[in-house]
Amino acid sequence: MNEEKRATFGGRISAVLVAAGSAVGLGNIWRFPYLAGENGGGAFLVIYLAAVLLIGLPLMLSEFSLGTATKRNAVGAFRQLDKRWVPLGYMGVLSSVLILGFYLVVAGWTAEYMIHSLFSDQVQNTDPQSHVEAFNNFISNPWKPVLYALLFSVATHLIITRGVQRGIERASKVMMPLLFLALAVLAVNAILMPGGMAGLRFFLAPDFSKVTAETFLMAVGQAFFSLSIGLGTMITYASYFKKGTSVRGTALQVTLLDTVVAVLAGLVIFPTVFSAGLEPGSGPSLVFITLPSIFCKMPMSALWSTIFFLLLVLAALTSTISMHESATAYLEEEWKMTRRKAAWCVTIFTGLLGIVASLSLGIWKAHTLFGLTFFDLLDYLTANIMLPLGALLTCIFVGWKVDRKIFEQQLYPDCRSGFAFRLVRFLVRYVCPVLLVVLFADNIGLM
Ligand code: TRP
Repeated sequence: MNEEKRATFGGRISAVLVAAGSAVGLGNIWRFPYLAGENGGGAFLVIYLAAVLLIGLPLMLSEFSLGTATKRNAVGAFRQLDKRWVPLGYMGVLSSVLILGFYLVVAGWTAEYMIHSLFSDQVQNTDPQSHVEAFNNFISNPWKPVLYALLFSVATHLIITRGVQRGIERASKVMMPLLFLALAVLAVNAILMPGGMAGLRFFLAPDFSKVTAETFLMAVGQAFFSLSIGLGTMITYASYFKKGTSVRGTALQVTLLDTVVAVLAGLVIFPTVFSAGLEPGSGPSLVFITLPSIFCKMPMSALWSTIFFLLLVLAALTSTISMHESATAYLEEEWKMTRRKAAWCVTIFTGLLGIVASLSLGIWKAHTLFGLTFFDLLDYLTANIMLPLGALLTCIFVGWKVDRKIFEQQLYPDCRSGFAFRLVRFLVRYVCPVLLVVLFADNIGLM
């Protein structure tokens, strides 16, 4: 597709907003706290922050550069630079739809919680155990969570078919500042609850005795997941950046925003967990059982709960859009489909995955593969295998295959690069690949 026909985002602020819209999502508010809770709290946070800085940021700069240099979708970008690397683009597109498959399910849960807060008084219930039961009952219901996942899928589809600019930009612009504000208010509220300080200590004071090799893997996988990198989503998004958008500035701001939201989510969740006497290691249900415990103690609990889950729905939506977009842009540009048809293919396929993933937590719980339900299998396969592998290969590609000048020009269009560029390139060429190989080998059980 030629350049004039491609959509662009409105400008610098828009680029930050849409890329941050992709990055900030359930990864920050649902996945990060539950992994931190299962992996030692403070120690996980330290390793996570190191992973974001050492691997996450250089990789985001790399993906952005591939996008701005080629102005193509994830597959087209590799095709233009070096045909032999096209399979890496395919893996990216495949991982986006696989992630979307289980992401839609969790996104559906947030939508159900929003509707529920609006119409029922169950949030008034102050017994933490009742929140656990309510959650388990809901996710194992044979049709409700499936319906919500499909609803989410349709909402994503509608925004995608209305076009890149109008849909994504608008949703992100409204959601981001509000989400920030709501999290900050909730964090203060949670820390001031009796027992809140113990939670704060758990989250901020690292206890390295609990760290294992797996903790590192989880933290790095989570950094990729949260920053939306490792599978070409950010290549696709950067391809829509307007000429003159700063790649460096955008990557820095998106990384910072994403990290602040994750830390804020931790500051909300852990004080609440300790104050309500819940288990920090209770897994994927963590956010869904702790948040109602805060709300039920607040005045106007239903209102707070509704607003917060609405923000979560929007955050999830701007992320599902980005995954959907990278697959849709691929079909549209490489298969020459109309945008509408491309979007339908992605929606139907991911919708089917979502149905199976949702049912695998309820009536199909007994059907497992490698001891994992279909839902867990999708999560594990993507976050712990495909994302680190995609990230490793992307580093090698940008660090060793792409002409240094191309990379340099994306980051420093005025050609005035200095120490910072050499540092980034060193990280991309040596540090990231070595760290990722070690982690990856560990992940597939070779060590
Ligand atoms: N980053 C999003 C989140 O934190 C999820 C996401 C969107 C994603 N696009 C992605 C994860 C691409 C990996 C790759 O919720």
